[in-house]
Amino acid sequence: MPLDIHAIRAEFPALAKRVNGEPLVYLDNAATTQVPQSVLNAMREFEEGGRANVHRSMHMLAERASVAYEDARRTVQKFLNAAYPHEIIFTKNCTEGVNLVARSLGETMQEGDTVLLSYLEHHSNIVPWLQLKERKGITVEWMEVDGAGHIDLEHYGKLLSEEKVKLVAITGQSNVLGARPPLEAMIRDAHAHGARVLVDGAQLAAHHQIDVRKLDCDFLTFSGHKVYGPTGIGVLYGKREILETMPPFLGGGMMIHEVNEDGFSAGDIPEKFEAGTPPITQAIGMGAAMEWLEQFPWENIEAHEQALLAQALQALTRLDGITIFGPVDPIERSACISFTLEGIHPHDFTETLGKRGICLRAGHHCAQPLHRKLGLTATVRLSLGIYNTREELHVAAWEQAIAALRGL
Ligand SMILES: Cc1ncc(COP(=O)(O)O)c(C=O)c1O
Repeated sequence: MPLDIHAIRAEFPALAKRVNGEPLVYLDNAATTQVPQSVLNAMREFEEGGRANVHRSMHMLAERASVAYEDARRTVQKFLNAAYPHEIIFTKNCTEGVNLVARSLGETMQEGDTVLLSYLEHHSNIVPWLQLKERKGITVEWMEVDGAGHIDLEHYGKLLSEEKVKLVAITGQSNVLGARPPLEAMIRDAHAHGARVLVDGAQLAAHHQIDVRKLDCDFLTFSGHKVYGPTGIGVLYGKREILETMPPFLGGGMMIHEVNEDGFSAGDIPEKFEAGTPPITQAIGMGAAMEWLEQFPWENIEAHEQALLAQALQALTRLDGITIFGPVDPIERSACISFTLEGIHPHDFTETLGKRGICLRAGHHCAQPLHRKLGLTATVRLSLGIYNTREELHVAAWEQAIAALRGL
């Protein structure tokens, strides 16, 4: 059974909005998605039912909060097919997940150790490693990519064979080109050379099934707000045996086993990495979002988004003066298309369409090394979600905007 997109749309209150009398066309899902009613309800029910902090007090509200929070952790565990619930650490977002690994595992690295990145990376999976380079004198190396977003695997193999790579930090899906690196093979190669692998799953999580055991990645991180969940919550998955050996990231309440005047001993995972009051309501919302998304078979989500992508590529190709970046074959790309229009600044184009309720993003999309590699400073990005329709991809308004901006 294909997805009933109109029924799905009806679950998202924000999609009913109109902008200047025109229906909202939300095509900025790579930045953040909208939220279904069931997620809003789950968070509201928790707050209205009397909230409490988790793992602290003994009263009935505290018990309810702790159960709901740990249930959310188990839901995420199932979503990722992780082996244990305590391999799931709640963070603020994907960015914090990368920072946690860079700060904690990074402490065990030293001068001469290499962290390997690709040119596809978002700044969230670049800057924490450049900070580690400043702090510990590690080396950061870059895997080459071509204009279609393919990683040069020969170059990757060569870098690994130097036996200095301690960690490969790689995106599961580019937020600019929509390209998806061959994760399984790359992880196998990294492990064969003794390197660990962190997958930035920020863009992957809403569009393709993630099975961390099948991937065999050591870490994977993503944000709730890009998978139809709330802001302020993210997840870091880590293999139990690695997380257990890592020092804590932030210090504070609940992450300790014992504290005295001179020092402390760290608690067990996951608490060791969840200092202070966690984002409890948001974690509950995140669990509800995973449950919401999992009601749809992944093949159906992929088929729907793939058909939209093919249609969008076809329509965009006809626009005068357009250059589309990334894989040419729609099969090789997921959920987003970045492009430029001759003689039109991306910001002017998105601002003009924004006034008509069409939401796109313009800029470097927090991927400056990739933009520089492609000889660009900014692109326009269209990014899809489960609720987008074929009608939303009609480009008549786009053609009018182009003509107006070119003064035709
Ligand atoms: C590939 C990728 N990684 C990481 C991030 C960072 O996500 P967040 O800002 O939610 O931490 C983004 C956000 O756009 C992204 O696209």
